[in-house]
Amino acid sequence: MGWTQAEQQELDAILKKYPADRKLSAVLPALYLAQREKNWLDDDDIEAVAAALDIPVTHVHSIIGFYTLFRKEPTGKYMVQVCTDLPCALRGAEGFYKRFCERMGLGPHGGTTEDGLFTVEEVVCLAACDKAPMCQINLEFFESLTDDKIDEIIASLREQALKG
Ligand code: FES
Repeated sequence: MGWTQAEQQELDAILKKYPADRKLSAVLPALYLAQREKNWLDDDDIEAVAAALDIPVTHVHSIIGFYTLFRKEPTGKYMVQVCTDLPCALRGAEGFYKRFCERMGLGPHGGTTEDGLFTVEEVVCLAACDKAPMCQINLEFFESLTDDKIDEIIASLREQALKG
């Protein structure tokens, strides 16, 4: 991938938080940083993280495999994870998941839009059941969803994407 100058500075700041012989401790923030630009990690990204932390590439792969927020498949700029677990389901989550998919021109099983802007998927409980139904978009929670709220969210993200 090659870190940009700004990313390299962020990476250096992350590494400074840990003892030089404990670079592995920085793996999660380093992976978030590597994933931030395109929202998923390719082999070059993973190798760059391994090199920065002086750890084997296989070790980084095993860590990525453990955390659902890291992705090794091309993913939309906005990762929309709609919780359809029981408390959310009792408040209509299936219908809201369907609405997200329909509004983005995706089939019933979600996926990634042709323009690469959105990936939609169903997930299990995100620990915000008291605000069900909810979804997570990248790292932000959107709670107490309604049809109108979903339309507003999508419109706002499209507008945000246009602005770059
Ligand atoms: S069931 Fe949806 S956040 Fe817990």
